[in-house]
Amino acid sequence: MAKKARSRYVCQGCGHTAAQWFGRCPGCGEWNTCAEEPVASGDPRRGPRETGSVSRPVPITEVAGGDARRLATGMGELDRVLGGGIMPGSVVLVGGDPGIGKSTLLLQMAGLLAAAEAATLYVSAEESGPQIRLRAERLGAMSPSLLVLCETDLEAILDQLRREPPAAVVVDSVQTIYSRQLESAPGSVTQVRECAARLVYWAKECGIPVFLVGHVTKEGTVAGPRVLEHLVDTVLYLEGERQHHFRVLRAAKNRFGSTNEIGVFEMRDRGLAEVGNPSAALLSDRAENVPGSAIVCSLEGSRPLLVELQALVSRSSYGYPQRVATGVDAKRLSIIIAVLEKRGGYDLSSHDIFVNVVGGLRLDEPAVDLGLSLAIISSLLDQALDPHTVAVGEIGLGGEVRPVGQIERRVAEAHSLGFDRCLVSTRNLDGWKRPRGFEVAGLDGIDSARQLAFKG
Ligand code: TYD
Ligand code: MG
Repeated sequence: MAKKARSRYVCQGCGHTAAQWFGRCPGCGEWNTCAEEPVASGDPRRGPRETGSVSRPVPITEVAGGDARRLATGMGELDRVLGGGIMPGSVVLVGGDPGIGKSTLLLQMAGLLAAAEAATLYVSAEESGPQIRLRAERLGAMSPSLLVLCETDLEAILDQLRREPPAAVVVDSVQTIYSRQLESAPGSVTQVRECAARLVYWAKECGIPVFLVGHVTKEGTVAGPRVLEHLVDTVLYLEGERQHHFRVLRAAKNRFGSTNEIGVFEMRDRGLAEVGNPSAALLSDRAENVPGSAIVCSLEGSRPLLVELQALVSRSSYGYPQRVATGVDAKRLSIIIAVLEKRGGYDLSSHDIFVNVVGGLRLDEPAVDLGLSLAIISSLLDQALDPHTVAVGEIGLGGEVRPVGQIERRVAEAHSLGFDRCLVSTRNLDGWKRPRGFEVAGLDGIDSARQLAFKG
């Protein structure tokens, strides 16, 4: 009699695995995300080693350093986020919403690597050969060293990789390839994890870098990049608003570099172009002297970015006022509004408030609080802020303006873009050198913002 296949229960949201069915996931606390999945009968990682090599301990002083062998992609912004180029044998997961530009970024990279004589295999499990060719023509990625394989079967992909190992591999996407050795459906947590694990194993064994594309998906339906984060060396997220052309590449995890760096790109008709001076690009079409607009300086990794924040405060026509935040955290906006009411004496209870970060960027740093408050006050009073002033400060629940880190670098960025004044916390006034001719005004609390922000 055939042995009954064993099952396990996997949360489709976070990947938590249990031997028994669960209604609410013990891992992430979500309800109804449990799916039954059969356990693979033969784990390919348990058989004999494919190369027959055995690892031996080596004194740390004799372990080869990796940095010298890093492969430059030819895209400065991408190399920086990776930590200075691609490490041999590293596995990089590139996540992001569908349509944000992941395939574009990686096909461009593959084209550049191929043009530099590094044979690159682009495995597409989503698009057909003609579609990829069309895109490669647009991107200027036509090179005989760029090989395209349209395949969804993991075993076939691995066979090809073993037969002709390239210098780098892109797999687009990890959610659409599947292993025949597993019974669960393509895109399920088990499949995605297994496929990624086998590719990681191959990458480590051969010392060849692998890039995996992973779509960020609505929870519960298919497995997103989150379930793979612990498996891979580097996790990059490509972010932005699809309606806007700016894209930010951010490292969420990096075993070979800092997670602080960001890369800024602009989506053009010929692919992603690197943005060398993001502050200037972000402020390029700013209208001065418009009420509700404030310039903030947010530190993204080691880079200060000047960004315009816009607020629209208008009298509410319904009983319950609307609060809509795009690019800033909605909870943070609620807190700022409460502080402005309670500590600043502004009556916002009967007003709708809309906040937007220009350029489709997302700002998480508390240092933008002061600018956000000023944008709201400016729109409420219908009075424009001083156009040459930048605001940098965190707002506490008591209405106090708190100091932020790296004030000198932020002010230097503002100065280099032609601003001549910065509003900061009074506790941020000392201990650093300000540019000549640059005025720095200190605030204790949000209640004094009105006198200082509306100058001239
Ligand atoms: P794509 O790389 O297919 O996104 P993803 O792989 O993340 O799903 O990018 C899709 C979008 O990018 C699409 O809406 C068209 C746009 N695009 C350009 O604007 N210019 C270009 O040169 C390319 C190739 C795409
Ligand atoms: Mg794609």
